[in-house]
Amino acid sequence: MHRVGLIVALWMTAGAVAAQQTADTVAPEAAGAGRVETSASVAASQQAKAEGRAVAAQDWMVVAAHPLAVEAGADVLAAGGTAADAMVAVQAVLGLVEPQSSGLGGGAFLVWHDGATGEITTLDGRETASLEATPRLFQNEAGEPLGFFEAVVGGRSVGTPGTPALMAEAHARWGRANWPDLLKPAISLAEEGFAVSPRLAMLVANDAERLAVDPATADYFLPGGVPLAAGDILRNPAYAETLRRIADHGEAGFYTGPVAAAITEAVQGANHNPGLLGPLDLAIYRVKERAAVCAPYRGHEVCGMGPPSSGAVAVGQILGMLEGSDLAALGARNPESWRLIGEASRLAFADRGRYLADSDFVPVPVQGLLDPAYLADRAALIADGGVLEEAIAGEPEFDHTLLWSDGPTLEQPATTHISIVDSEGNALSMTSTIENAFGARLMAAGFLLNNELTDFSFRSHEGGVPVANRVEPGKRPRSSMSPTIVRQDGQPVLVLGSPGGSGIIGYVVNALVAHLDWGMDVQEAVQMGHLLNRFGIYDLEEGSEAADLAAPLEALGYEVRLGAQTSGLHAISLGPDGLLGGADPRREGVALGE
Ligand code: GLY
Repeated sequence: MHRVGLIVALWMTAGAVAAQQTADTVAPEAAGAGRVETSASVAASQQAKAEGRAVAAQDWMVVAAHPLAVEAGADVLAAGGTAADAMVAVQAVLGLVEPQSSGLGGGAFLVWHDGATGEITTLDGRETASLEATPRLFQNEAGEPLGFFEAVVGGRSVGTPGTPALMAEAHARWGRANWPDLLKPAISLAEEGFAVSPRLAMLVANDAERLAVDPATADYFLPGGVPLAAGDILRNPAYAETLRRIADHGEAGFYTGPVAAAITEAVQGANHNPGLLGPLDLAIYRVKERAAVCAPYRGHEVCGMGPPSSGAVAVGQILGMLEGSDLAALGARNPESWRLIGEASRLAFADRGRYLADSDFVPVPVQGLLDPAYLADRAALIADGGVLEEAIAGEPEFDHTLLWSDGPTLEQPATTHISIVDSEGNALSMTSTIENAFGARLMAAGFLLNNELTDFSFRSHEGGVPVANRVEPGKRPRSSMSPTIVRQDGQPVLVLGSPGGSGIIGYVVNALVAHLDWGMDVQEAVQMGHLLNRFGIYDLEEGSEAADLAAPLEALGYEVRLGAQTSGLHAISLGPDGLLGGADPRREGVALGE
């Protein structure tokens, strides 16, 4: 890494174009190096986002968390590439310019609607616990759970990355473009440099203490001990070298050879919390095709990712409990709408805590949890206008001789979401993560390693009863990631998803209800103020219209908490008039289409 530049970069943040200028000790001749200019189409998209307008297109569209990544995807789509091709280019650039959220060192889930066959496929590229891991991975000598960050920082929390294998698998199934070409934009940016975004700079400054623990991580994000500033030009030759290996050798260039060796050395040799991930874990990693989980809502089919994600099951349960309520008539500003959504969410989170885990290791009653009769019984619990004293897991159709205790692990709010529609009618929804912002704060071969294993329950048992989401060797941790494709009559009408840890489920439900019940277009839906209820307390987004509901919700009996709700919803709607893209104003993403 070299911090070489003083640059003025144009960035749009939450509705205003902000000119960011950093005073830095830079050789003047270095100014102008790296990729900082904003293209006219990106500027237009940022302007639309600032004004609350969706971006319109006819043939294809891509929405993701950083303009440079979106441009890379748009170039692929404009040249006739498929949505899978574009995703590879987008993800490779995101791993460089938004390294805090996702990358080669992380994992992802992908939902694909095939324009030719109408089939929906879901791919699981989730990180995996080492074969050496035990259920006591995150416990101290006395069997007590470690503190969260005690577990996160260092090698212990690192699961076998899945994102490189998922990129290769999606390209092999649905791609058309030349694989090495798809990695070229990221390789050029890594070599020429790119301007650090305001959001990345802010997160580096806030996390400087943890980023300082690993020398390689500190070198990259805190050069000379100083946190990167917005507008600094950042280069990453090691990342370019890793991408070249993947370009030449496919996923084997990552899971074997020097990149794999760098990963295991970083994990096992970490100066803090060395971990277990070894060469065999990397060599045997495989993407898994899972059965898509689809739930009906208002004449649509809402499809997403099943276990080990809790996303589609929880989203489907919440919508299933709301189906019998006339939310359209109640409206978006009505506390009763939010009582119903909040109570349904609490019940879904209770089931999630009890039953959701990696279905290759524990039986998960997906059908029972989404059974309309079961959901009608659950909806009856919240039909009386009141607030449940306690939301407890239900008893769906299941072998109840299998006992699980509650494991209310909460995934943390980092992650990123990519939505793409191509000119052949393929739609791709992919949520990608390294878990916490900056993952395990460990760098290897130019990218950050995930801390995804802390998405497992730190407790293996409660009261002598096993927790479904306990750590086991080769198991994948529970997720909340909810990449979603909504279809009507077999055709996709909405592609969306969000980062935000366990908040993802609520963010996605809010946007779905806003669009399907309240008639908001995709931009209005992604920017609507958030209200989330997982475990009783109602979280309202400070500074948004959602905060106006604080007093009415308190009057209904809720404890209310105001705070930031940093979703990163990226959505595309498909209708008779074409495509509309919406990018969340809380982050730096844009929509581009043609
Ligand atoms: N680590 C974020 C999630 O999987 O939900």
